[in-house]
Amino acid sequence: MENFVLVLFCIGIGMVFNGGSLVQSAGSFPCDPSTGLNSFPFCNTSLPIGDRVKDLVGRLTLQEKVQQLVDQTTAIPRLGIPVYLWWSEALHGVSNVGHGTKFGGSIPGATSFPTVILTAASFNTSLWKEIGQVVSTEARAMYNAGQAGLTFWSPNVNIFRDPRWGRGQETPGEDPLVASLYATNYVQGLQETNGGDPNRLKVAACCKHYTAYDVDNWKGFQRYTFDAIVSQQDLEDTYDVPFKSCVLNGNVASVMCSYNKVNGIPTCADKNLLAGTIRGNWSLNGYIVSDCDSVSVYYNQQHYGATPEDAAADAINAGLDLDCGSFLGQHTEAAVNESKVTESAVDQALINTFTVLMRLGRFDGDPAQQPYGNLGPNDVCTNDNQQLALEAAREGIVLLKNDGSLPLAAKNISSLAVIGPNANVTNTMIGNYAGIPCKYTTPFQGLSAYTQTLYAPGCANVACIANDSLIAEAVQTASSADATVLIVGGDLSLEAESLDRTSLLLPGQQQQLVTQVADASKGPVVLVIMSGGPFDITFAKDDNKISGILWVGYPGEAGGAAIADVIFGAYNPGGKLPVTWYPEDFAVNVPMTNMNMRPDNTTGYPGRTYRFYTGNTVYSFGYGLSYTKFNHNLVKAPELVSLPLDACSQMKSNSCEALSVTHTKCQGLSLEVHVDVNNAGSRDGSHVLFLFSAPPSSTLETPQKQLIQFRKVHVHAGATERVLFNLDVCKDLSIVEQTGTRMLPVGSHLLHIGDLQHSVSVQISN
Ligand SMILES: *[C@@H]1O[C@H](CO)[C@@H](O)[C@H](O)[C@H]1NC(C)=O
Ligand SMILES: *[C@@H]1O[C@H](CO)[C@@H](O)[C@H](O)[C@H]1NC(C)=O
Ligand SMILES: *[C@@H]1O[C@H](CO)[C@@H](O)[C@H](O)[C@H]1NC(C)=O
Ligand SMILES: *[C@@H]1O[C@H](CO)[C@@H](O)[C@H](O)[C@H]1NC(C)=O
Ligand SMILES: *[C@@H]1O[C@H](CO)[C@@H](O)[C@H](O)[C@H]1NC(C)=O
Ligand SMILES: *[C@@H]1O[C@H](CO)[C@@H](O)[C@H](O)[C@H]1NC(C)=O
Ligand SMILES: *[C@@H]1O[C@H](CO)[C@@H](O)[C@H](O)[C@H]1NC(C)=O
Ligand SMILES: *[C@@H]1O[C@H](CO)[C@@H](O)[C@H](O)[C@H]1NC(C)=O
Repeated sequence: MENFVLVLFCIGIGMVFNGGSLVQSAGSFPCDPSTGLNSFPFCNTSLPIGDRVKDLVGRLTLQEKVQQLVDQTTAIPRLGIPVYLWWSEALHGVSNVGHGTKFGGSIPGATSFPTVILTAASFNTSLWKEIGQVVSTEARAMYNAGQAGLTFWSPNVNIFRDPRWGRGQETPGEDPLVASLYATNYVQGLQETNGGDPNRLKVAACCKHYTAYDVDNWKGFQRYTFDAIVSQQDLEDTYDVPFKSCVLNGNVASVMCSYNKVNGIPTCADKNLLAGTIRGNWSLNGYIVSDCDSVSVYYNQQHYGATPEDAAADAINAGLDLDCGSFLGQHTEAAVNESKVTESAVDQALINTFTVLMRLGRFDGDPAQQPYGNLGPNDVCTNDNQQLALEAAREGIVLLKNDGSLPLAAKNISSLAVIGPNANVTNTMIGNYAGIPCKYTTPFQGLSAYTQTLYAPGCANVACIANDSLIAEAVQTASSADATVLIVGGDLSLEAESLDRTSLLLPGQQQQLVTQVADASKGPVVLVIMSGGPFDITFAKDDNKISGILWVGYPGEAGGAAIADVIFGAYNPGGKLPVTWYPEDFAVNVPMTNMNMRPDNTTGYPGRTYRFYTGNTVYSFGYGLSYTKFNHNLVKAPELVSLPLDACSQMKSNSCEALSVTHTKCQGLSLEVHVDVNNAGSRDGSHVLFLFSAPPSSTLETPQKQLIQFRKVHVHAGATERVLFNLDVCKDLSIVEQTGTRMLPVGSHLLHIGDLQHSVSVQISN
């Protein structure tokens, strides 16, 4: 396909900037008094936004309208409207992916936070929101300087349901509740409408990629043609959950549809999904955008739509408002002429996009005179912002193994061997959808701040092609030092957009490097896995020469300092795994293309994620150690919840099996669980309490257990903190049955918090 080349260009990493005229520049904005073109009603900030948008769209010709349906818009000089470039990204800091943002001049870099998978591992909702606030402050400063747009296509909240997915690093992990809370908090932080005026956005966020998207490129299956076969149950119970929360609780200003098909229909042309679910059921107050070139992709590669005009009309009729790409700009006018789509449907798409721009203040005249107008270069890469990037990395890092050697005592170590292909990396630490960071602290630099260090990479890069001399040098270096830190794992050459893995083992000779270096080391050996997705590191878990293991995600610009702070005990780790770590046989036996969450014992399919997967794990979801010990004590929890018989919606042999959660008798029922957390060790630390529920086993294909709430608490050494969970019975204890309806199963629900278990019986009273 000729378009295939275009697609790769458009979504590639390390993006090209637009040269010259297209880049939005400072001093070029609509309703600019100096142009004299500011007396239109759409420029009048005293009028309601709806009236202003109607006035603006009413002034456009059809030819002008269709050129506003694409991300690189055309200027309309007679109305004083310059080019607007919709595509900016801010996944974990302002990114340079997309046409809308460029670094340089007065703002050469921005704070680069850890990749989202590591920030998720902090399980700290206030941190997620605070990062969003800092990122949007830096983004708005870049807009004011003419270096960015106001519309950021972040976050990525697809469920990380397969460990091989190359984009798992961008996501908050495998659990729908965690992904929902991440989406809500990060979006509220970016947009900052929270508690304020919903018609005033700081920047506009976007939850993507709707929906059931997470095969990029695996054994010949490409996202551009992949048809995700998804049950209503999995859609309602897993894939749609973070999007729903992003729209309903986060009030996000945009949702992006995905490249793939869902049950035979490209998502960007699916009226049930876009107009039905997103706009209809969830009442999105914002716009729906395609993934980049996805309209062209479904026409040219999926052969959806008989003609380009049909394909364009399908998108707009489905509820798509903006094309990242050029297809709608090229074919919509003819589609209107051929009556495949009405001009009023085009108008509605523009109303949705212009409303967001109005809420951003884009038509309010000089940006410097508006809220956030004072933000500038001095607000980017501040000490506080960079300190938060360090804090996020520290909070996310997960301690997977410790024989007691960690933390290392710097004064006992006069030489530390720092070894491995990721031991002194810079841009590996910022993963994908990154920008240009303020600065880097590599692991080697971070560790060198604590003690004397020796460096040997062991392999030329993470592919770690056999090289005896490099391994020999590493072994020699380790054998001469008092302790060893090995930093291995992946980078974007192994797991990335358009690149899924086929194996969960460490690549090339990395395992040999780790084993041989550990064997030659005299003192403690710490293995650090720097990666987005999980690895099968059973060999290291079982190797007594390896004293400790850390997973550090791709930890952002300050990653090396955070790793060193954890290893030397300046920070007590409290991160928990946001994904299951599966053994290699999962990658051997499970097709990545099978979207089912639930196991199938007729085929041996083991199911996915801690909620359904029935096989062995290397490490479980939620796993993570600390340098102190926390004990839980159940203080209060009821044993019985009683509901009237008329709420029953599923009868099974004369007994009620489940209640409909939409039934009025099920509303407002709450349940309090109080737990004391005691820090029984000698170090202060933060601890995550996961409250899981195992529903009664029934015919409804329930999860084995599901996370219903979590809390992170800081507990001083020797102290006890009380944690309150307030459960909404119908929301928190319900499950989704086969047709996608949410139900509360009758019977015994087993609550788990750490090793505490408590049974709550949901019963019917006649
Ligand atoms: C803006 O709209 C208000 C409210 O309708 C009106 O009173 C005012 O005259 C308008 N301003 C301009 C400059 O047209
Ligand atoms: C959560 O993150 C905030 C920063 O946003 C930090 O101040 C706080 O200590 C963290 N909470 C815990 C319990 O670690
Ligand atoms: C979504 O809206 C449609 C149309 O109004 C309705 O039939 C359907 O039941 C709704 N779905 C949910 C899950 O609310
Ligand atoms: C659409 O119809 C108008 C009016 O007939 C015509 O001027 C225009 O060229 C047509 N555009 C396309 C793309 O067919
Ligand atoms: C330092 O090393 C000495 C001697 O091996 C040992 O007794 C001591 O416990 C170590 N200190 C720490 C803090 O690990
Ligand atoms: C470590 O990386 C930094 C940053 O790229 C570089 O300046 C330094 O020379 C490297 N150190 C070693 C020992 O290779
Ligand atoms: C091994 O690595 C060294 C150092 O990078 C390099 O000079 C040498 O060519 C490599 N040997 C092989 C066999 O690749
Ligand atoms: C498969 O699952 C069904 C229903 O849960 C159960 O009755 C059956 O024993 C299972 N079969 C095997 C082989 O595990």
